[in-house]
Amino acid sequence: MTADSTWLVVGANGFLGSNAAAFLQGTVDVVGTVRSRSPLPGFSSIATCDITDSSSVDSVIRAIQPDVVLNTAAIASHELCEREPELAHQANVVGPRNLASTTAAVGARFIHISTDAVFDGARGNYNETDTPSPFSSYGQSKLAGELAVLEENPAALIARTNFFGWSPTGSRSILEFFVNSLTRGELVSGYNDYIVSSIYAQDLIQILWDLNEVKASGVFHCVAGNALSKFDFGVAVADQFGLDSGLIQSSSSPAGTDGISRLRDLSLDTTKASQLLGRVLPTQEAGLQHAFSDRSELRNQILS
Ligand SMILES: NC(=O)c1ccc[n+]([C@@H]2O[C@H](COP(=O)([O-])OP(=O)(O)OC[C@H]3O[C@@H](n4cnc5c(N)ncnc54)[C@H](OP(=O)(O)O)[C@@H]3O)[C@@H](O)[C@H]2O)c1
Repeated sequence: MTADSTWLVVGANGFLGSNAAAFLQGTVDVVGTVRSRSPLPGFSSIATCDITDSSSVDSVIRAIQPDVVLNTAAIASHELCEREPELAHQANVVGPRNLASTTAAVGARFIHISTDAVFDGARGNYNETDTPSPFSSYGQSKLAGELAVLEENPAALIARTNFFGWSPTGSRSILEFFVNSLTRGELVSGYNDYIVSSIYAQDLIQILWDLNEVKASGVFHCVAGNALSKFDFGVAVADQFGLDSGLIQSSSSPAGTDGISRLRDLSLDTTKASQLLGRVLPTQEAGLQHAFSDRSELRNQILS
């Protein structure tokens, strides 16, 4: 990709969308889409587009003529997806289908973001050949979104992930939860039974960039190279940021509404991406070091 390439970041004002702009700025032309117009740093221009509207998706993509479309738009809240499954279906299935269909028609590369929550978390260390079995409406809608994307655009790259980092609200991510709470000297719970391989958002965008460069298509697990419980992650945050890890209490995650513990290991195996890229993916601790060095300039750039 060269400076005259155009990336269209869909969901530009979201957590990952704003991180993508910060990463891509200065390397390629970055155009963003939002549902309601607002000034956003890092984007050369902004278009308005509701991805559930196929004619809007079609006209925006045909007008911008991007080389790459990165879809970070979604209803990413488990709670909202449980409450409003039709809304989740529209944003997480219909929208991605529309984007996949138009990108296939115009010959643009399509990168779609999915989630580790397509698995049930009973085992962990899932690879791309393991059969998904989502435990939530969110996971079900994201899995259906993956299938819709591949149906419309088999050359698409689908990245299943889980990430942490600096967000536009300053409070969206688990990193910010621990940094903000521990800085204020508050006691916090760290779940010892909820395990993920969360990757630093800037490291994630680097991996998407690298996979795009080698024209990867299909499903890839794009997460950190190691798994940590939320408790261990909190301790790692405290260690990296010079905060008091004694404020983090190891605890079990609360039972769901069905009375069943949320015990989950949603860690993903990254061998497929590592082999294609010829390097291991960064650990969560390496991501925290990166986030620490980004804590001034990048954090301020992303904060809205
Ligand atoms: N955050 C995580 O740790 C995590 C973990 C695993 C996977 N993911 C996946 O990563 C991706 C990005 O997540 P995120 O945390 O960055 O989400 P986010 O901060 O909630 O941002 C989502 C974006 O989607 C936009 N959007 C929602 N419905 C839309 C629609 N119908 N048309 C156009 N835009 C729409 C939102 O726009 P408005 O501002 O207008 O609502 C918002 O900009 C999602 O695919 C999510 O499923 C996230």
